[in-house]
Amino acid sequence: MALALTLSLLTGCGGSAGTASPSAAQPESAQQESAEAETEGAGTGTQGAESGDTQTAADQTGSAIDYLVLVNRLNALPDNWEDDLETVHMTNSLGDDVEVERTAYDAYLELKADLEAQGIYVDLDSARRSVADQQRIVDEFTEKYGEEYVARYVAVPGYSEHHTGLAMDLYLNIDGQDVYENEDMMEYPEIWSAIHARLADHGFILRYLKGREHITGYSYEPWHIRYVGTGPAAEIAARGLTLEGYLGAVRETEVAVDYGNSSLYTTEDMEEAMDQIKCRMAVWEGCELHSLSYAGDAACTEDNLAWMNELGEDKNYTEVIEFLSDFHSPVEAAGSWAADTEYTNWQWWLARSKGGDWEIVTFGY
Ligand code: DAL
Ligand code: ZN
Repeated sequence: MALALTLSLLTGCGGSAGTASPSAAQPESAQQESAEAETEGAGTGTQGAESGDTQTAADQTGSAIDYLVLVNRLNALPDNWEDDLETVHMTNSLGDDVEVERTAYDAYLELKADLEAQGIYVDLDSARRSVADQQRIVDEFTEKYGEEYVARYVAVPGYSEHHTGLAMDLYLNIDGQDVYENEDMMEYPEIWSAIHARLADHGFILRYLKGREHITGYSYEPWHIRYVGTGPAAEIAARGLTLEGYLGAVRETEVAVDYGNSSLYTTEDMEEAMDQIKCRMAVWEGCELHSLSYAGDAACTEDNLAWMNELGEDKNYTEVIEFLSDFHSPVEAAGSWAADTEYTNWQWWLARSKGGDWEIVTFGY
């Protein structure tokens, strides 16, 4: 499973769709007008952090660590990262050993004290992880939540920001009870908002933002914070950027989302499916997702469900959904994409078994 995940996530823009083109087999799908994506004027170049920014945190701390290092679905942990890394160990309330980069840990202690002054209690679930640790999480979460959840929430070993020691997963203590399961922590949006409001002052950013899944490659994680230093954190928060956008690695685009009208699926159903698509598109290097539209209930036919089951073999899907996307191909020619071209009404077909998660079954024209 981990191998399948790795392959699917790392297969990107450079190739053809890599799955059967839906155009031949699929009955007509509803065509919807796609809104044009907007940008926030966060273009490459104007956005890029200057090398001086990189030095800021290091200068303050005397550490040679690059606090703005970018580790994401497309960028592995740099070689020799450990050479300059100094870490500390702490034991959390659950009795687990947690390892954190030294300066980031000091900043965390300040954040924790600040939050406690407001009556909010947090602890560290996980910070630095080895590649083997990350693999264990992939395996455990696949067992517990399934492959689709892992595709949206867990990095491929070697590509996790947790390898740096600068990323931390918080958990909550509410009325004396530890709340650390992801689905339970999601139940406290107000507490997370209060936590997020205090991050920048202590040099942290919220790394996986809602609505930025197409850039970060991950679904919203209220618990995952990343130390970058106070200067960059303040600017990233003030401008509402991702780390990718701040560093000029991507343009900070918005995705126009159209849920249409459905008597079959809720907005939440569609958001889960769209998150899968956005996370997948984040690894299509150089491609810019502009819009996603629900293709309509008319596409959810028995014929299309049978087609999904034919492609999915033993999956026993019971529901099918289609989305249409507009996106821009890489400016420079790459793989089989027509360079610098707006692809419109590109289809995404997903299916699920009742009660399960959506899976991307095929996409293309
Ligand atoms: N949950 C984050 C993306 C990780 O696994 O590194
Ligand atoms: Zn995390």
